[in-house]
Amino acid sequence: MEDTKIMNTEQNIVLIGFMGTGKSTVGNKLANRLGLKFVDSDDIIEKRADKSIEEIFAQEGEKYFRDLETEVVSDLGQRTGLVIATGGGVVLRKQNIEALSKNGIIILLTATPEEILNRVEGTDRPLLDVENPLQEIKDLLAQRKEYYDITEHKIDTSNLKVKQVIAKIERIIS
Ligand code: S3P
Repeated sequence: MEDTKIMNTEQNIVLIGFMGTGKSTVGNKLANRLGLKFVDSDDIIEKRADKSIEEIFAQEGEKYFRDLETEVVSDLGQRTGLVIATGGGVVLRKQNIEALSKNGIIILLTATPEEILNRVEGTDRPLLDVENPLQEIKDLLAQRKEYYDITEHKIDTSNLKVKQVIAKIERIIS
């Protein structure tokens, strides 16, 4: 069995990045390893709305989703000792990043468009439910480039195993 590191921190570790870059998978395992609580902002949004992300987008629209997302990350930003996985679009509102930066270290996970497509295929991602998802991923990445480029801590996960990503995060936070 691997050692569990207990991190003595008041800080949150906040994972941002496009869909399919590994935020939830990595965040969950990282939290276990560090003895911290893992939260996924999309899960909290689904609980608050009592609907899946897909249903929220289909029935209420993206603006409603973004408002809920802002509410949720603003609450999470007040807490400490969490590993937080965010939705890929959390960067679109500056106030979200400000809230999450308050008690948190922000780490950007990235991956190539092809790898992202590979990872999200067969999952419910309303924004990628289009005829040419690869092109949509490329377009959204281009549109969001300036929003993702806000942190010095950046890990390209395309060719890494979850363990390797975690090792890189541990180096960043140590
Ligand atoms: C979104 C990413 C999704 C989810 C929603 C919108 C986005 O989260 O929040 O579908 O705008 O990129 P994941 O990044 O966890 O897939």
